[in-house]
Amino acid sequence: MRASFLMKSQLIVVFVFVLVATVPDLVRSLNPSLNDDVLGLIVFKADVRDPNGYLASWNEDDDSACNWVGVKCNPRSNRVTELNLDDFSLSGRIGRGLLQLQFLRKLSLAKNNLTGSISPSIARVDNLRVLDLSENSLSGAIPVDFFRQCGSLRVLALAKNKFSGKIPESLSSCSALASANLSSNQFSGSLPIGIWSLNGLRSLDLSDNSLEAEIPKGIESLNNLRAINLGKNQFSGKVPDGIGSCLLLKSIDFSENLLSGSLPETLRKLSLCNYLNLRKNSFRGEVPDYIGEMKNLETLDLSANRFSGYVPSSMGNLQSLKVLNLSANLFTGSLPDSMVKCANLILLDLSQNSLTGDLPAWIFNSGLQEVSLSENDLLGSTKSPLGNSLGKLEILDLSHNSFAGEIPSSIGNLSRLRFLNLSGNFLVGRIPATIGELKALDNLDLSENQLNGSIPLEIGGVVSLNELRLEKNFLSGKIPSSIENCSSLTTLIVAHNRLSGPIPAAIAQLTNLQNVDLSFNNLSGSLPKQLANLPHLLSFNISHNNLQGELPAGGFFNTISPFSVTGNPSLCGSVANKSCPMVLPKPIVLNPNSSSDTASGSLPPNLGHKRIILSISALIAIGAAAVIVVGVIAITVLNLHVRSSASRSAAALTLSAGDDFSHSPTTDANSGKLVMFSGDPDFSTGAHALLNKDCELGRGGFGAVYRTVLRDGHPVAIKKLTVSSLVKSQEDFEREVKKLGKVRHPNLVALEGYYWTTSLQLLIYEFISGGNLYKHLHEGIGGNFLSWNERFNIILGTAKSLAYLHQLNIIHYNIKSSNVLIDSTGEPKVGDFGLARLLPMLDRYVLSSKIQSALGYMAPEFACRTVKITEKCDVYGFGVLVLEVVTGKRPVEYMEDDVVVLCDMVRGALEEGKVEECVDGRLQGKFPAEEAIPVMKLGLICTSQVPSNRPDMGEVVNILELIRCPSEGQEELE
Ligand SMILES: *[C@@H]1O[C@H](CO)[C@@H](O)[C@H](O)[C@H]1NC(C)=O
Ligand SMILES: *[C@@H]1O[C@H](CO)[C@@H](O)[C@H](O)[C@H]1NC(C)=O
Ligand SMILES: *[C@@H]1O[C@H](CO)[C@@H](O)[C@H](O)[C@H]1NC(C)=O
Repeated sequence: MRASFLMKSQLIVVFVFVLVATVPDLVRSLNPSLNDDVLGLIVFKADVRDPNGYLASWNEDDDSACNWVGVKCNPRSNRVTELNLDDFSLSGRIGRGLLQLQFLRKLSLAKNNLTGSISPSIARVDNLRVLDLSENSLSGAIPVDFFRQCGSLRVLALAKNKFSGKIPESLSSCSALASANLSSNQFSGSLPIGIWSLNGLRSLDLSDNSLEAEIPKGIESLNNLRAINLGKNQFSGKVPDGIGSCLLLKSIDFSENLLSGSLPETLRKLSLCNYLNLRKNSFRGEVPDYIGEMKNLETLDLSANRFSGYVPSSMGNLQSLKVLNLSANLFTGSLPDSMVKCANLILLDLSQNSLTGDLPAWIFNSGLQEVSLSENDLLGSTKSPLGNSLGKLEILDLSHNSFAGEIPSSIGNLSRLRFLNLSGNFLVGRIPATIGELKALDNLDLSENQLNGSIPLEIGGVVSLNELRLEKNFLSGKIPSSIENCSSLTTLIVAHNRLSGPIPAAIAQLTNLQNVDLSFNNLSGSLPKQLANLPHLLSFNISHNNLQGELPAGGFFNTISPFSVTGNPSLCGSVANKSCPMVLPKPIVLNPNSSSDTASGSLPPNLGHKRIILSISALIAIGAAAVIVVGVIAITVLNLHVRSSASRSAAALTLSAGDDFSHSPTTDANSGKLVMFSGDPDFSTGAHALLNKDCELGRGGFGAVYRTVLRDGHPVAIKKLTVSSLVKSQEDFEREVKKLGKVRHPNLVALEGYYWTTSLQLLIYEFISGGNLYKHLHEGIGGNFLSWNERFNIILGTAKSLAYLHQLNIIHYNIKSSNVLIDSTGEPKVGDFGLARLLPMLDRYVLSSKIQSALGYMAPEFACRTVKITEKCDVYGFGVLVLEVVTGKRPVEYMEDDVVVLCDMVRGALEEGKVEECVDGRLQGKFPAEEAIPVMKLGLICTSQVPSNRPDMGEVVNILELIRCPSEGQEELE
């Protein structure tokens, strides 16, 4: 059954195929000419790409093309007369197919993507009335003879292609031409003189090409011309006098050429003209009085020429005038009062002239929407005219004149104002509070005046504000927090004033901010940390103020230029060329009296594990320690009332002591979970811990560290993670922390336990008493400095600890001298390892912004998204640390006006054979060069740019041991 079905369908296919193959021949033999249209169009279709399938209806089996999309026929002859394929997304070339269409009158292929040049044979031009190829990508020159047979052509549109070469002289054969549009191509050379013989021409658009030379004489024969556009070319010389004979002209555009001379007298005859644009030429002389006779003018643009003299008072006769642009000329005198009669004026631009006199009052009484009088010598007070406003103005630019007096509060009446620029005048007094009524304003510039008083709170009412410029005035007081209501603000410039007080944190709410300049004021206080969250900042200049404390970390502030922060003596951070104090004064005092010891020692053993209750207030207080600036808080740590506390408070915490984690008690949502890894019995006997303001040991990328003492007198360091919002789920967190808890090495700071709630995580570390390596190297502890032997031991111990971590597949990610602690015997202990594992993923952005404090230690691959981060990034950081230990210099040192990168400096010294001079000055004469030089070379190898060129830490340890005892090996570093 199946087989017979197949056979049947195959038969049908064969039958249809035979039909398709034979029918055209059949039809052709009956009526040979009819099918030229079908064949021609099919050939045309075969030459172009039709991605949207618009030509799908074009089927070569049809015996007529008349029903095809885009095709029109003469109903009597059934021959194709029109092809309208505008905007069909066709691409490819126009082939020869259309030559078959002997009766084609209109060919319109506009707004496609056709390419290639047009050959003389694209179509039978001799019958065409309309040829529209505009808005394609056609290129090349038009063949010289292309228009030879174009006697029927009425409309020619080749605009917006890439045609080049000369406009062919044969165009003058198109004697019926009414409209020619060749604009926006690359036609060059001069205008073919024959074009003036086309006296049927109504519209000529040759704009936006590269045509040059003088406009030839003879235009007067175009007595049907309505519109001429020769703009955006390089025509030179004068406007031909004959233009005045084209009496029907309504639109003249000669803008953006090299035309010169004065306006021809004959222009006055063009009383129908409503559009005259001569902008950006070199016309000179006075604007003739007769301009007032061109009564239909709606747009007059004479801008950017060299017109001089007065603005003629006959302008007042131009009562249809809507747009007048005389900007960038040499006009003098004051504006004629007669212009008050130009009742239809919408746009008036007189900027960049030398106009004098008062601000004309009529400007504010008319229907004007846009007024620019900037860069003139206008005088007087802005007071009275603004007061009379009828409120149509949207754009008002009075900048750079000589206006004096106060800004009138009636400015608030200009309720449609979007743009207000009064900068560069002599305005005095306060900024009126009514400014807040300008709800539509998006650009306010009052800079470079003599305004005083404070920035009004009402500025927050200008809710559309995009740009605010108030620089170079005498403004005082605070920056109002109400500015946060201007949520669209991108530019805030208040530099060179007398502003004081803090930078309001509200600014950090303005997430669209890009350019902020607060420089040269008296701003004080510290910078709101949240500023680092502004995502679009491009510049943030706070130089020359009295700001203090640490620069915000992260985001734009990681790359802020030193010039943007200079001149703030109390500002710190690497960019400010001043290190921040490691311990910030944040007093936390734990009151030992608040907990009683009555039950201590009575703890019942629970399956061999001890349960300890830690009151939540203790942990909250530790958590809050980073936030609280002043104040004393009593907290209780390690309260041993097992039963009573547990039953009294759902918020009680359970602490499980023991080395078997699997017995950690489960916790409900309200309570946190504290786990100590060691079952130290002393621990459970309980002790009071006291945290006071000295207890903050320091802070790093992952959080602040506090010292506390457990009940047994055992000191620990507690790190409060500030990355809590990034931390993984509890399960993942505990798994990773327990892994880190098992990492024990004499040169690593031991992790002794942790505390978890969703909002707060603490890590409990072994306390190391001797301070960190950074302080030893750069701040000196007790006036001592490290000897060569101590330094070598530190390098070796650090190397061993990293080698050990790498064996366990743990990358440190944050190796730097402040993370290397020195214990009482001088042994280095590396802390803070593996913390990046607590983050949900090893996000480079998070890593580099969290570890950004480690400036100079960060391996170059962090900046390169395509390179995988491996343990070799630790080798790099270690190499920098080695150089730091040997030279006693910071990885990046900021000099007067120079930034010195340590490894570049040592590398340079090595090349010059002066590497010994790099060794810490305090060691001079007290170190063995045969150790110090190879150690420095090792440091340089470790800081190779390419990760694979760096040795691994195991090799580093071996090399160091060889350097110490060269007799035991032959290897040497070159
Ligand atoms: C035209 O073609 C170019 C190049 O093939 C392509 O990039 C462009 O998107 C096309 N434009 C249209 C409107 O199809
Ligand atoms: C010429 O063609 C371009 C592109 O289609 C068009 O923008 C322009 O308005 C036309 N010029 C005239 C005078 O119609
Ligand atoms: C007036 O002309 C100048 C120069 O040609 C131009 O920059 C300015 O934008 C024009 N003014 C208006 C309001 O269009």
